[in-house]
Amino acid sequence: MTDTVWWKRGTVYQVYPRSFQDTNGDGVGDLPGITARLDHLAWLGVDAVWISPIYPSPMADFGYDVADYCGIDPLFGTLADFDALVAEAHRRKLRVILDFVPNHSAITHPWFTESRASRTSPKRDWYIWRDPGPDGGPPNNWLSNFGGPAWTLDPATGQYYYHAFLKEQPDLNWRNPAVREAMHAVLRFWLERGVDGFRVDVIWHLMKDPAFRDNPVNPDAAPGAPGITRFLQVYSADRPEVFDVIAGMRAVLRGYGERVLIGEIYLPVERLVAYYGPDLTGADLPFNFQLIQTPWRAEAVVDLVARYEAALPPGGWPNWVLGNHDQPRIAARVGEAQARIAAMLLLTLRGTPTLYYGDEIGLGHVPIPPGGARDPWERNEPGHGRDPERTPMQWDDSPRAGFCAGSSAAEPWLPLSEDWATRNVEAQRSDPASMLTLHRRLLALRRDHAALAVGDYRGVPLGVEGVFAYERVLGGEVLRMVLNFGGAARSLPLPDGGWTVLLSTRPGRTGEAARAALALDAAEGVILRRE
Ligand code: NOJ
Ligand code: CA
Repeated sequence: MTDTVWWKRGTVYQVYPRSFQDTNGDGVGDLPGITARLDHLAWLGVDAVWISPIYPSPMADFGYDVADYCGIDPLFGTLADFDALVAEAHRRKLRVILDFVPNHSAITHPWFTESRASRTSPKRDWYIWRDPGPDGGPPNNWLSNFGGPAWTLDPATGQYYYHAFLKEQPDLNWRNPAVREAMHAVLRFWLERGVDGFRVDVIWHLMKDPAFRDNPVNPDAAPGAPGITRFLQVYSADRPEVFDVIAGMRAVLRGYGERVLIGEIYLPVERLVAYYGPDLTGADLPFNFQLIQTPWRAEAVVDLVARYEAALPPGGWPNWVLGNHDQPRIAARVGEAQARIAAMLLLTLRGTPTLYYGDEIGLGHVPIPPGGARDPWERNEPGHGRDPERTPMQWDDSPRAGFCAGSSAAEPWLPLSEDWATRNVEAQRSDPASMLTLHRRLLALRRDHAALAVGDYRGVPLGVEGVFAYERVLGGEVLRMVLNFGGAARSLPLPDGGWTVLLSTRPGRTGEAARAALALDAAEGVILRRE
């Protein structure tokens, strides 16, 4: 198994840096905080840490608006803090993945300042400027992902600039070779500093229709859904020319050995797999968010896994995600009991798992008090904000759950969960029944059983309603997972030989022999090993 590249056999852990560990008492997490908690990640058993943006930023979108691609925002620390983080991570055999945000910069980026200065600025074409439409309004009907139009008029030069997100996040023009070159230099800057890869923000957005045609109306738009869903994003994203751009980034990484390129892509399975690129020249891991978007029913998930496995191009390595800083927490979406089998699913399917910080302690949706919203999306389109899944990590039962250092520390930037005094890492570490212990055991099994990390996948049609059964197979080893998505106990037929329980979401079953049948509790998941 050691001859398989690290990003195929390993597990990625996402840190939202504002919310992981605050060391200077300002209520916001920072780089020294991440370094201080690397031991938690090593103990847990993950292999890589992906850190959401830490670059200098006016923080209109909490760092997804980058004002300098080669620096560190003072809120998070310094370049020296970053170098220390990389060194300490590598010392523990943990890889470091940075968030790369190439689709748009901050409105304060010097490139944009120069670009907007005049129509003849040498950097005018680094961004997307268009004349007003025939009626004097925006050039076309494209909408912002955060609500409202995607075009803002700059009165000084009489043209509109395009922004797929906030007006403070102008889109860069990736058709301009100078932009590509500048961005490749950014990748090299961080690769030289030792980073092991990048998660590329909204990679499917990088190229837009050169004719800027109107997007067609979405006939299936759901009432109450974000405004952007009123149109199908046919011309504003997922354009064929994007694959050339991605291949260019990939080529830069390949010059540095085993570095990984992960792409953020919200598209249906058939389109998603295109992002492995022609002849696998695309993203190593096009993020697969299908588990987040599929109803939590066994039959739907069985079908999803089969469709995804079948759609992968030859040699394309799968991956799975249950949550991130833009999506409701898994424990909130499916409930605490089902979140346990969700963890088992994530960590036993074929492909690289990405685990979101806090999910290992079963953190749920933390309500935000009235007036306390921080996410700009919540202000534009109430109800769609992402604050509830970005709340501070809960480490122990000391004040502020150990998230902020020092007794005079400020309040954390977002609230803790109500049950923080008991839902924290320290309390769960010593509890054999905890979510944290379950995650650690699952991650240990992935390391100890090559079949789980790199083995083949096959569905097992048991014909028991509400139960998903599948196997991971390598050499002579057969591991079978049985996950009860239902709320009732089940007896499963096991006609094919003798099995031993390796792990159950219900503590105390490890080592149990299973012959002919296996009793499953409601919402129980079990990993069996064929004898
Ligand atoms: C996707 C990021 O995950 C999200 O947090 C951000 O707001 C948008 N891209 C814009 O960068
Ligand atoms: Ca801090």
